[in-house]
Amino acid sequence: MKPQHHVFICMNRRPEGHPRGSCQALGAGAVLDAFAAEVEKRGLFEKVFITGTFCMGPCDKGPTVVVYPEGVWYGKVTPQDVPEIFSKHLEGGELVERLRLM
Ligand code: FES
Repeated sequence: MKPQHHVFICMNRRPEGHPRGSCQALGAGAVLDAFAAEVEKRGLFEKVFITGTFCMGPCDKGPTVVVYPEGVWYGKVTPQDVPEIFSKHLEGGELVERLRLM
């Protein structure tokens, strides 16, 4: 089975006070939960895969989310942004420019 989109969400956690911080410290767990809930709500199990990853680099701009096949990077993603990422990008084919890192 090949999904239409594969969403990678950084779930890296560093110790409290670490100079680089981490996406987990910035709320990545709630973002992953929101993506999973939205997949269920929209019945997209075979079309959108969600995977938690380790650090992808831009830790200070996390939570970091990368969407393939486009290779689009989103930063500072909150659970409130997730429905828009689905409606605009994953189902609508339009990127969410205000969240784009690259
Ligand atoms: S900790 Fe998430 S990008 Fe580095």
